[in-house]
Amino acid sequence: MNERVHELLNDQINKELYSAYLYLDFSNYFKRVGLDGFANWYMIQAQEERDHAMLFYQYLQNENQVVTLKAIDKPDKQLDSHMAVLEAGLEHEKYVTSLIHDIYAEAYKIHDFRTMQFLDWFVKEQGEEETNANDMITKMELFGSDPKSLYMLNQELAARVYSAPSLVL
Ligand code: FEO
Repeated sequence: MNERVHELLNDQINKELYSAYLYLDFSNYFKRVGLDGFANWYMIQAQEERDHAMLFYQYLQNENQVVTLKAIDKPDKQLDSHMAVLEAGLEHEKYVTSLIHDIYAEAYKIHDFRTMQFLDWFVKEQGEEETNANDMITKMELFGSDPKSLYMLNQELAARVYSAPSLVL
């Protein structure tokens, strides 16, 4: 495998685990303010991010590449309001999209078709992640200021259940 592509794929394990850590912190924020549904939604989001990390880990191992695990950064977003959390989520997903695109661009440059095919799932997934993050902001804008509506929204988010990723390696 090309050295740069290998390095970026390996780094992505860390970025996805950081994402899991960040969403755990979001879940923690919502638990603290009594919005259990939001806390549930982000707890499941954290599980999905851990799955993403494992897919990169598994792909490198399947390709007989060395995996190097690095320290995970402390979640550093300023979580001082419900909306600040949701906006930090969207900002973070846009960043992750840019990372996936950077790896794709490197793989494309050297005709690493297998890595490109592996990343296709993530390109699509990031589109969904950004849509979800955007939807959360829209819903909060619409319903966040009315306690009854916020309660209903919280109930809706409490219904989210975990499902394993559709990509199997
Ligand atoms: Fe692993 Fe939310 O992107």
